[in-house]
Amino acid sequence: MKTTILVTGGTGFIGSHTCVALLEAGHDVVVLDNLCNSDATVIKRIGQICNREPGFIEGDIRDSALLKNIFDEHNVNAVMHFAGLKAVGDSVQLPLAYYENNVSGTLNLLMTMRAAAVKTMVFSSSATVYGNPASVPITEDFPRSTTSPYGATKLVIEDILADLYQAEPDWRLARLRYFNPVGAHESGLIGENPRGVPNNLMPFIAQTAAGLREELTIFGDNYDTIDGTGVRDYLHVVDLANGHVAALDYLQQRQELLTVNLGTGQGISVLEMISAFEKTNHCNVPYRISDRRTGDIAKCWADTRLACQLLGWQSSRTLENMCADSWRWQNSLRNSTP
Ligand code: NAD
Ligand code: UD1
Repeated sequence: MKTTILVTGGTGFIGSHTCVALLEAGHDVVVLDNLCNSDATVIKRIGQICNREPGFIEGDIRDSALLKNIFDEHNVNAVMHFAGLKAVGDSVQLPLAYYENNVSGTLNLLMTMRAAAVKTMVFSSSATVYGNPASVPITEDFPRSTTSPYGATKLVIEDILADLYQAEPDWRLARLRYFNPVGAHESGLIGENPRGVPNNLMPFIAQTAAGLREELTIFGDNYDTIDGTGVRDYLHVVDLANGHVAALDYLQQRQELLTVNLGTGQGISVLEMISAFEKTNHCNVPYRISDRRTGDIAKCWADTRLACQLLGWQSSRTLENMCADSWRWQNSLRNSTP
């Protein structure tokens, strides 16, 4: 069924790739984004990739009047909800801003959706809800915990969605727990453009390879992992975007609260990632080892069977694809900077 999807946070990293996937699947798309961590030029770039642009409204999910207008004016059938603040360190410094933006914003969105009788939402949760898991791979029934206000906002929103579904089972809700999204669209037109110093590994590697940073700091080499460095489940953002379309298709067929991991099921260490990046892109990533980063865990990867079973979705892009596409995007950023 083709529908109009409201994509909050649609000019951001994952939202923009999901807009492409939705447009390619034939849906109409309206983006709502306040541009606090992105840029409106992304809309044109999505248009270049898909030969049609999504609608764009610059605004905030906390603005009830604006949301009401959007639901009045557009025939929205479902919401993909990416809008949120995501920097773990900032959330420790600014907990109220994080709760206000992420939790109040989501509550506001859900209440306006209910008033407009739009009862389908796909929500961006995170593997951060598993805290420090007792073992790997992680299945969806693992206990949840968190170590940061950012993670706490994800836990609270997951609970709000569960309580809502319990009270009103005619909603169609998905809680998608992403592992570590990396890479970029293969066109080189959209990708992740972190402001300031990147917190996450892949953009830091790409900026170091490009000579924008002197060296990568590896946060600890004494973990109980294959080579002592942290192990994560890195997932190509285009695969992740396709997972959203699969989740939407699933919800269109049933009223359900869906909770699934989206990952590759494969753990990659920091050193393995550096080596894959260098080999794929014929470049150099100088690094040094430092102490562990506070709050980091040793290893984290998904059991992906549920997503495969329920959604028929699994990742298809390789580590080399992730490295090549990140590098292409990094170079296109360099070329577009005056
Ligand atoms: P992003 O920062 O690139 O995108 C988020 C977008 O939301 C930005 O364009 C920002 O301008 C917008 N936004 C923020 N607050 C808003 C508000 N109040 N009203 C309107 N727009 C607002 O981040 P991303 O990496 O694309 O992440 C998208 C979602 O996925 C977030 O909810 C994030 O917590 C979640 N997530 C991300 C990762 C990751 O590693 N990138 C992992 C797990 C979960
Ligand atoms: C971080 C967040 C997590 C969030 C996830 C995806 C923290 C503590 N956790 O997790 O909540 O869900 O991003 O956005 O911030 N690394 C280095 N050097 C670097 C950067 C990273 O060695 O400069 C290492 C880390 O120690 C880790 C791995 O690379 O072992 C991946 O780090 P990162 O990309 O930040 O992701 P997460 O740690 O999974």
